Amino acid sequence: MPDRIYNAAGERIPRHIAIIMDGNGRWAKKRGLPRTAGHAAGSEVFRKIAYACRDLGVEYLTVYAFSTENWNRPSDEVTAIMKLLNKYLHESIETMARDHIRLRVMGDLSGLSSELQELVRETDEISAGYEGFQANVCINYGGRDEILRAARRYAEEYAAGDQSELNEARFASYLDSAGIPDPDLLIRPGGEQRISNFLLWQCAYAEFYFTDVLWPDFTVDELKKAIAVFSQRDRRFGKVKAN
Ligand code: IPE
Ligand code: IPE
Ligand code: MG
Repeated sequence: MPDRIYNAAGERIPRHIAIIMDGNGRWAKKRGLPRTAGHAAGSEVFRKIAYACRDLGVEYLTVYAFSTENWNRPSDEVTAIMKLLNKYLHESIETMARDHIRLRVMGDLSGLSSELQELVRETDEISAGYEGFQANVCINYGGRDEILRAARRYAEEYAAGDQSELNEARFASYLDSAGIPDPDLLIRPGGEQRISNFLLWQCAYAEFYFTDVLWPDFTVDELKKAIAVFSQRDRRFGKVKAN
């Protein structure tokens, strides 16, 4: 299984970390700032944590930036978040080439503005030229929606004549995460202990780590703490303990 990298302290480094970046609004409220200030602070933290993951030897980082349910927020907040994502992708197109960071956007892209869709196309194009660390940003993403879209694609192929057996591997190939190993560690800052429709299929055997730290306050030390806790977990995958 995936956990083959160890750090100097002998801790296992997860191959794939997923993060629900939660708590931006409360962080801003505590400071008397508009919620959007929390989102701006949160996007800077994502940048920092992505570099830290790359440097620690993590291969994939998948973050939840905007859910299919987040459209139900006040329209000015949604607009501000979309603007931030736009800015982030613009900047990434410059830096990813320099830093050799692959970026993939997951979610129902058809629900995004044409400008965002164009930026996603550009980042995909640049990423195709690199190997190594990959960051996946989930925008207009919902685990149930992803599974539904996958089922529809299968049904289309079936109707078109490809009636070969549907097994887990084939179904996974229709998901947004096709080709990416499942997350080993799911981190949720912000104090809530729920999955909120994130990576429902992929987290079947992920280890969960919850912390009250709000996302804009999340640090590289917090990340290392989560990895240290992960390293102590006994992942049995339904089997009995080895010793
Ligand atoms: C997470 O922070 C960012 C998004 C969901 C877009 P929140 O905005 O949910 O922050 P809280 O949970 O209200 O503090
Ligand atoms: C999950 O956070 C979505 C993102 C972080 C993008 P939410 O704040 O939307 O989740 P709930 O509403 O607390 O479950
Ligand atoms: Mg929240």
